[in-house]
Amino acid sequence: MMAAKRKNEEGYEDSERPKENKKKTSAVGGDFARFIAEQQHGEDKREEGPKEERRRKEEEGEITNAKVIQSSDDLQPTPYSQLARLDEGMNRCFRANRKRSRDAQTLLKRARKLKEVKFFNRLIRDFGNEKQLGFAEEAFRILEKESDGIEPNAYSYTNLLNACVRVGELTRAREVFDKMERRCEDKPNEVTCTVLVKGLCEEGLIDEALELVKDMVRGNMNRPRANVRTFSTVLRNCVRYRDVGSAEATFSLMRECFDVLPDAACYEYLSKTYASRLDVEKAEKTLDELELQQDENGKFLNIPASALASLAGVAATVGKIDLAKRAIKKCRERAEEEQRNAEQLNNGNKRDRNIQKPGDESTTPSKSVSNFFKARATDALREISEIEAFLSKDNDMIRIEAKERAEAFSIDETDDIVFVHKQKETVETAENFWARTFKRKGKGLIKAKLEVCSGHGDWITSRCAKEQDSTQWFGLEMRENRVVLTWIKSLRLGVRNLTMLCGMAHECMQKKIPNEALDEIYVNFPDPPDWNGSANCLVDAAFLVESHRTLKVGAMLILVTDDPGYAMRMCRELSIVPHLFKPTAIDGKPFENTLPADYGFSYFNALWTNGNLNDRYFIKYRKL
Ligand SMILES: C[S@@+](CC[C@H](N)C(=O)[O-])C[C@H]1O[C@@H](n2cnc3c(N)ncnc32)[C@H](O)[C@@H]1O
Repeated sequence: MMAAKRKNEEGYEDSERPKENKKKTSAVGGDFARFIAEQQHGEDKREEGPKEERRRKEEEGEITNAKVIQSSDDLQPTPYSQLARLDEGMNRCFRANRKRSRDAQTLLKRARKLKEVKFFNRLIRDFGNEKQLGFAEEAFRILEKESDGIEPNAYSYTNLLNACVRVGELTRAREVFDKMERRCEDKPNEVTCTVLVKGLCEEGLIDEALELVKDMVRGNMNRPRANVRTFSTVLRNCVRYRDVGSAEATFSLMRECFDVLPDAACYEYLSKTYASRLDVEKAEKTLDELELQQDENGKFLNIPASALASLAGVAATVGKIDLAKRAIKKCRERAEEEQRNAEQLNNGNKRDRNIQKPGDESTTPSKSVSNFFKARATDALREISEIEAFLSKDNDMIRIEAKERAEAFSIDETDDIVFVHKQKETVETAENFWARTFKRKGKGLIKAKLEVCSGHGDWITSRCAKEQDSTQWFGLEMRENRVVLTWIKSLRLGVRNLTMLCGMAHECMQKKIPNEALDEIYVNFPDPPDWNGSANCLVDAAFLVESHRTLKVGAMLILVTDDPGYAMRMCRELSIVPHLFKPTAIDGKPFENTLPADYGFSYFNALWTNGNLNDRYFIKYRKL
């Protein structure tokens, strides 16, 4: 099974790499755990101190976002047990989470008895990898406070830091790092520092991360040496934030290290950062340079097909046709080679399984890895077919227009993209923004629809093309590079009815969408909350209030997910707002298990299908 939680077009991340020997673990909705708590923790609770109780509650999701909805009846949400009876996937998830919680408690009890640092460290690592931050913190606390004669060491701190970073809890991560510096005999090593670099970069604090990397490169403050992962971590995030300056600075720092060789991913990220600024010459030059590099065994590096596809797409759109064609040709060769390699990996894997002893799962992980590579190569091939279709159009009006529009896109400036997260203060009211957008588009009476979390933009751009004359579409996405690539896709399709909002969903909706302005809102495959105690959950009570405010009466809110845990959480949030929304499914369930036949292509839908993740929840509610 493909265990990758989330993959992005920049490539793998730690958390996103298909995991060896690991089944997909769903981040399960917060209040689900309240049900478990009701069932299981009656006795345990009596033994807990206040801190312990808070940690458990966080882990199990009892402490979630403050409810902002005023329901006159103060309704209780639908119990998780009830939802679990409606659906096989939900039931599986419900039971798995109950077991996970029980197992975690058992392991903590064992750790208390054993009093071995190594055992604690493994626990903290495994809880961290499972995104069970509350339990990781609890294991660390027991090691630190209750276990006489032993103390946390570098591994304990690093594993806990990693647990925080994996779920996006930077404040907690900083606290762990500071505490390690103050209290631990071991100083932060290169893994510790790289994990902190990752946490900083993912929060967009790339400058701060680079200061730490500088210290690592130059040996300031006794920092450990940076390694190639340290640099690729920064570079990956430069793609997300389209931060060319920091990407170049990272490469310069890497060159200061005689013992670090940039790998293919480093070049890929640099090239994609240039491409996201439409600087195709530099993007190509970077990939050319990549091809000349060798790894530590003297083997020449290969350009990943996905990097070539992204170069080809931008080059074609900005009218650098020869460059685009070169990239397409190389991309096809590379993608086919990547597919063959993935196939070989898979076949080798099957052979191994035939001679495998029962119960020995040691080779199965390669299947998920090979599936992932295959999906990536297939995606690159799909992308270049689309680019070829654009280049071969008889009517070249679309190409000319795309080139003109792309050329006019000097840094951050096109009326079709609004970088909401960069607007320090509200520049205009939502009403004015709305009126201006519709006036500019010259379409007074058409419908307005929003896709939240539009990702790579395949779904929304094809809907734009289908509904050119009837609908003004708005895409909302927090990652800058995805926003720009979606817009580039829209240029290639020749559509003019798309405006992209870049930033966090709640903020963008609040600032840019007036009351009762939308005919439909879609949320396709949103990322599930990072961990059960996380306060960051897209489809929460506040989101429902915003959706209700911005939708017209009778208009639809459509939520689609492959994740049973998140589906349960969304259904529960909806169950306490019957005065705002009403389900449309006809059989009494709050969701359906299939998407409408013509629903449209989504990158993540295809990715999860490819990885045999086939649960689907189509949650369609009408605004009252
Ligand atoms: C799993 S992807 C799905 C993308 C797309 N809808 C699809 O089906 O292919 C989720 C996307 O939501 C974006 N995202 C997550 N949380 C967000 C938020 N709070 N505001 C805006 N975008 C968000 C992520 O950057 C990512 O691109």
